[in-house]
Amino acid sequence: MKVLVAVGSKYGATREVGRRIADAIAAHGFEVDFEDACDVHGIQYYEAVIIGSAVYGGLWRRDASGLIKAHRDELRAKDVWIFSVGMETVVKPGQPLDEADGFATEVAAHDHARFPGRILYDRLNVGEKALIKALNPPKGDFRDFTQVDDWAEVVAKRLEELAAA
Ligand SMILES: Cc1cc2nc3c(=O)[nH]c(=O)nc-3n(C[C@H](O)[C@H](O)[C@H](O)COP(=O)(O)O)c2cc1C
Repeated sequence: MKVLVAVGSKYGATREVGRRIADAIAAHGFEVDFEDACDVHGIQYYEAVIIGSAVYGGLWRRDASGLIKAHRDELRAKDVWIFSVGMETVVKPGQPLDEADGFATEVAAHDHARFPGRILYDRLNVGEKALIKALNPPKGDFRDFTQVDDWAEVVAKRLEELAAA
């Protein structure tokens, strides 16, 4: 079974989460391709697809959401998992957590996981710094790779069941 893991990431935190998921699934013997979503030109070769994105202003990165929108029907016929990487401390009052629950429903995903991310304040652009200054969330790396590994294990086990069916 060929599996694609594709990510939308601006500052690399989500890319590393996706890479970790790809490695965990490959360790179960699956053939896994890991790509930035903007580099994916087709998904026809894959039976299972895992798409994740960083969340900015409640939205996924456009390459990741674009991948879902461009292949919605095709994805619906495959086994799909979705994950978001974000910081709830950066969600403005009244703003939805992110748009990915809608994507998960649209493509009938097995699951939509949310993982905490990372804020490297010094690397942000001027506008991003202004927002972060106003919201004043804790800065740093809040990723929990044990949580990511646990989720990847559940996905891999389900893939094994599907491959055996
Ligand atoms: C300007 C800015 C806006 C953000 N907006 C949100 C948001 O609306 N919801 C959320 O959950 N996380 C938000 N975050 C947190 C990012 O999703 C988090 O830092 C993530 O790890 C970034 O991933 P990346 O390094 O792959 O780009 C925001 C971060 C920044 C810097």
